[in-house]
Amino acid sequence: MNENGLPFKIRGLEAKDIPTVTSIDRLVFHDPWPESAYVQELYFNPNAHYFVLQLTPAMPTHTWAERRAALASQIVGFVGVRIEMGSGHVSTLAVRPEWRGWGLGELLLHTALEQAVHSGARTVALEVRVSNVAAQNLYTRYGFAVVSQLRGYYADGEDAYYMRANVEGQAYSNYLQQRRALLEHRFQPHPTYTA
Ligand SMILES: CC(C)(COP(=O)(O)OP(=O)(O)OC[C@H]1O[C@@H](n2cnc3c(N)ncnc32)[C@H](O)[C@@H]1OP(=O)(O)O)[C@@H](O)C(=O)NCCC(=O)NCCS
Repeated sequence: MNENGLPFKIRGLEAKDIPTVTSIDRLVFHDPWPESAYVQELYFNPNAHYFVLQLTPAMPTHTWAERRAALASQIVGFVGVRIEMGSGHVSTLAVRPEWRGWGLGELLLHTALEQAVHSGARTVALEVRVSNVAAQNLYTRYGFAVVSQLRGYYADGEDAYYMRANVEGQAYSNYLQQRRALLEHRFQPHPTYTA
């Protein structure tokens, strides 16, 4: 457990995470990014913010190799957002298949949106495969609406929806706070009752 009582934490991407993040990328996406793309984002793009979700049960490790292996198995998802001149762009979002359906993808997107609002973005946009209903449902919850359809956007020829959300104003910040409270409640360990 971390200091918030949650069994995981979300923190900024670090260089040591890149091999794990790219391995999840290869597992999840048809057109994964190479490690060099994350290196570029981390070191050379001041407008980019990347976060990883890391499980926190501390496993005692002794050697560097053990520590590295433990860390790799603990990172279960990540998100990226670029923010430039009042516009945010979600560049990536993924959760390992075995960890889906628990609200972790939402928590990652929420983190990216909070960052965007904090950095002064008025809108946030993204592209999503037209077949990716799971991600579209998640985005719709945060006010994203389809602006246009990008023909043959992906390497395999599938179209993308270009979606955008207006994240400006107190009402949106309040909404983010409400969702965070709901998510944190969902992740808190609940007492078990015995008869
Ligand atoms: C999209 C993705 C990140 C969602 O992660 P997740 O941890 O499973 O999502 P959550 O559990 O937080 O779900 C949040 C909401 O997303 C929607 N959603 C998630 N999985 C869904 C599914 N299989 N079918 C329909 N809606 C789904 C629901 O609205 C859900 O809310 P609910 O739990 O109240 O029903 C995950 O499916 C993933 O990594 N997919 C592959 C990579 C990808 O498509 N990334 C987006 C690129 S644009």
